Amino acid sequence: MSLFKKQDSEFRHRHIGPGANDTRAMLQTIGVGSLEELINKTVPASIRMQHALNLPEAISENEYLKLVKEMSLKNKTYKNYIGQGYYDTITPSVILRNVFENPGWYTQYTPYQAEISQGRLESLLNFQTMVSDLTGLPIANASLLDEATAAAEAMAMIFHHVNKTDNIERPKFFVDEDIFPQTKDVLVTRAAPIAVELVYGSYKTAAIDSSYCGAIVQYPNDKGSIEDYRGFINKVHDAGGYVAMATDLLALTLLTSPGELGADVAIGSAQRFGVPLGFGGPHAAFFSAKDDFKRNMPGRIIGVSIDAQGNRALRMALQTREQHIKREKATSNICTAQALLANMAAMYAVFHGPQGLKEIAERIAILTQTVAESIEERGFDLVSDNYFDTITVEVDDSKPIKEKAERQQINLRYTSNTLIGISIDETTTIDDLYDLINCFENDIDPVAFDIEDDDEPRHIPLSLSRNSAYLTHPVFNIHRSESQVMRYIKQLENKDLSLNTSMISLGSCTMKLNAATEMIPLSWSHWAKMHPFAPADQTKGYQQMINELSDYLCEITAFDACSLQPNSGAQGEYAGLLTIKAYHESRGDHHRNVVLIPISAHGTNPASAVMAGMKVVVVKALENGYIDVEDLKAKAAQYSKDLSGIMITYPSTYGVYEETVKEITDIIHQHGGQVYMDGANMNAQVGLTAPGLIGADVCHLNLHKTFAIPHGGGGPGMGPICVKEHLKPYLPGHCSLEVTHNRLPVTGNNAVSAAPYGSASILLISYGYTRMLGSEGVKTATEYAILNANYMRARLKNAYDILYTNHNGECAHEFIVDLRPFKRSAEIEAEDVAKRLIDYGFHAPTMSFPVPGTIMIEPTESEDKAELDRFCDALLSIREEIKAIEEGRADKKDNPLKNAPHTQHVVTANEWDHAYSRQEAAFPLYYVTLNKFWPSVARVNNTHGDRNLICTCEPIESYMEAEA
Ligand SMILES: Cc1ncc(COP(=O)(O)O)c(C=O)c1O
Repeated sequence: MSLFKKQDSEFRHRHIGPGANDTRAMLQTIGVGSLEELINKTVPASIRMQHALNLPEAISENEYLKLVKEMSLKNKTYKNYIGQGYYDTITPSVILRNVFENPGWYTQYTPYQAEISQGRLESLLNFQTMVSDLTGLPIANASLLDEATAAAEAMAMIFHHVNKTDNIERPKFFVDEDIFPQTKDVLVTRAAPIAVELVYGSYKTAAIDSSYCGAIVQYPNDKGSIEDYRGFINKVHDAGGYVAMATDLLALTLLTSPGELGADVAIGSAQRFGVPLGFGGPHAAFFSAKDDFKRNMPGRIIGVSIDAQGNRALRMALQTREQHIKREKATSNICTAQALLANMAAMYAVFHGPQGLKEIAERIAILTQTVAESIEERGFDLVSDNYFDTITVEVDDSKPIKEKAERQQINLRYTSNTLIGISIDETTTIDDLYDLINCFENDIDPVAFDIEDDDEPRHIPLSLSRNSAYLTHPVFNIHRSESQVMRYIKQLENKDLSLNTSMISLGSCTMKLNAATEMIPLSWSHWAKMHPFAPADQTKGYQQMINELSDYLCEITAFDACSLQPNSGAQGEYAGLLTIKAYHESRGDHHRNVVLIPISAHGTNPASAVMAGMKVVVVKALENGYIDVEDLKAKAAQYSKDLSGIMITYPSTYGVYEETVKEITDIIHQHGGQVYMDGANMNAQVGLTAPGLIGADVCHLNLHKTFAIPHGGGGPGMGPICVKEHLKPYLPGHCSLEVTHNRLPVTGNNAVSAAPYGSASILLISYGYTRMLGSEGVKTATEYAILNANYMRARLKNAYDILYTNHNGECAHEFIVDLRPFKRSAEIEAEDVAKRLIDYGFHAPTMSFPVPGTIMIEPTESEDKAELDRFCDALLSIREEIKAIEEGRADKKDNPLKNAPHTQHVVTANEWDHAYSRQEAAFPLYYVTLNKFWPSVARVNNTHGDRNLICTCEPIESYMEAEA
């Protein structure tokens, strides 16, 4: 290889862990002669891709940064006053550097292992407290995907709460005409499949009766007007319904809270709390509600509990509500949400405190009224005299004003030919107002205005001014200096195990390297500062990246078109199922609503199917984990007439490439159904096979798994869908602007996300991943993912039962270790092993999915042999610890597994009355002494927290250590 070619492919060796020597040794342990032989023995020949992927050649990291810089300059950073739910904001540098750009925060996984997640759990509790305080409602969750989907979740929650049985007595849901168009758009998409009847109108004249389950209004509304909804809320309550209020956290620092107005649910976006626009995301949506709804809330709720020592400890609460337990009975399919962005927003509130937030809001309100009054002086009327940051100006013809604005590189919101919206944000300066007002000038009189030092917002009605306190907890009041904030962020980070500590081998979650070069461009202003509804001629850089990435994903999946709109895997499932539904309907097959789902499927699959209005029929699995083809045949035949399709995961969630997959997809097609492939395991396919080759019609890709987007502690993510040609016309559209799906422009109102390209800015990560690895590199990554998994399997197979391998005894990119036998032999449960791994410095693999009492290990290609060996050594050492219990050498109750994890406090306490030593507890292997990670709490008590739900910051005394 020439020196220059070598340089171009250097990223491959940074991304993939094992080098040549490692590879040789690992192949030997597995017992195969070459990587090629391993792949041949693992991936069925019948589905192998016979050609090289037609992707660009790899480029070096340096070349990539140059390329993506040039591309970014095709995005024009005009001054935005578009608003509509997206506002420019100042990310405090201390948060940018220490959270947004810090792998200690962005590479975290969803906090299932609470003992090593206390930092982000605390920050998410701060987020919930902030939302609960500002909205005046007691229960808040730890983020949703975006404002529009949060509104749809509120609608669905209210609908299901009121209509408890299949007999829907109150199908109507009132939508005030003045909510954001993108929110309406998603409500339309989400209402129809679950039989909600949307009724539009003005809340002022709406006649609400007992056929309504509820209503949604926006505060301040789409036109910026602050309306008093108290009368309307009473009307809905009198009729037995509930009210959801879309709102704005910054406005609520000055306005009476939704809870005080009587609203039952509040939703919105926390984007303007320091999270860059990013052409639509990622941003954290919020959701809060009255106590009645706590068991029906969508998304994660962080709750306070205690640990084994009786100390305060946090964890995810009420998980039995969620799709992974409730499956088709869940009211929402939310899995990945927006944890990282919720943490940023919470830190923004910690950084500014209540007073700082109020001052920002007041500055914005004063600048807005200055603009408003100046424009009125020039003879224009405003739609409302009550406003916070947004005004809507009535004009005869918006065209000349638009031309003037564009000449000054200003974007206003052109709601119609006669209505112009202007939203002021935190970045707007007094100087900016001259240009802004000038757009409405006659070009003769100079713009002049005065802002007095003691000016106050004058357009917030007294009856709606905020009197109640918020953010009174010390956490929002003691971190004022940068040193304090920096140390607080670091203190929390230190409590969490992230990829910068050790491998996180979560089966089905693909915690691979999130390379620094992939991440760096996200903070560049030409990517970060783009408004999702900016005119198309200003977003050429994004368009190029989006079009090229869509093409790559189509090539990789062997499909024909791609939609980058869904902003999580579960949203992708939902969007994919809707394309199937629309396709059947286009052929007059309205009745086709049965979807077959294997028993091993992820909980989001049945939950998404129900949201798409489908009926779930479960297909059995065989002993070896394969789909039971006979059962499938019988069920496909039984439901033939009504068959909509099947949802399969490939390789299956059991970690094997089923040889029968083509037979399965053929059976479904013979009965007129469509095949949906869950792409969570795509890291075992890229370059070797493809959904299009195994007979699927549509799939989603979790870009936050296979394509290197970090998990962010529970989000962000992106779940684009790719489809075959015949499904292309049914891909998601968007009301606000044309979206393109592989160059096909789509408009219309079947959006699944608030922004046309979902969390667009993080698409850059997947783009960088593909460009730097290139055609060969992405395939090699898959091969090494399979190598690493099989190496670990080979090292562990004599100590543990490995479930479900193929007829050659190989696994795919992940494998399941059976821990159930130890329950009988030593009273040891999977949870004990998971917690003991923490003492060895590791995050546990996926627990009890898809098989209860097991762990599923997915090492990914990014781990080198030494790290894999440390992990295997830990598991082998744990096996010896179990053996000691089995053989009576260790006590069944008092042993290192049952007492795990061991905190520093416990290990260094004066008393130590265990039968094993402190060293065995905390430093069980030599490598641990070199890089010890201490859990900050002992084993967390889950039931205590659910029985005593607390999901906001408690008084400071409860942080103190329990009395001995
Ligand atoms: C097999 C499978 N399907 C679907 C999902 C849902 O993806 P997301 O969390 O992005 O919504 C997951 C998530 O872990 C998964 O493992």
